[in-house]
Amino acid sequence: MYVVKSPLPDADLKTVSEALQGALVDLVDLSLVAKQIHWNVVGPRFRSIHLQLDEVVGSARIHSDTVAERASALGVPPDGRAATVASGSGIGPTPAGWIKDTDAVRTMVDALGAVIIRMRQRVNATGEADPVSQDIFIGITADLEKHHWMFQAENA
Ligand SMILES: [Fe+2]
Repeated sequence: MYVVKSPLPDADLKTVSEALQGALVDLVDLSLVAKQIHWNVVGPRFRSIHLQLDEVVGSARIHSDTVAERASALGVPPDGRAATVASGSGIGPTPAGWIKDTDAVRTMVDALGAVIIRMRQRVNATGEADPVSQDIFIGITADLEKHHWMFQAENA
């Protein structure tokens, strides 16, 4: 169904919409992984990590909304359904049950690292096709790299 006219030519739109959809899936999953660990973290550093994880959830939710609405603005319907997220996320499996504080931090370092690699690929892929979307990916990457730094510092 044709609803919203895209300002981009078809070839560029394909590149950008794949990048936005991929980012949406990664960011929704990042918010779920961070909440899962927020609820299950145990250990002497419970309090600080528990609170730090909700900062990631907040960032991931805001960024997922930004990329989804950018897709809509370009005329491409975003897909944030659970099955789509489960099959497309770049984040590895998250362990079930209680998770020790050091393992919680390591899991978040890995999850953020996986998303950052893919987000940087999207920065590189979209510069020619749509610098406006690229700008969004750059901003998101900077924020995720800040969270990544903070979790790495936690386990130093
Ligand atoms: Fe909470």
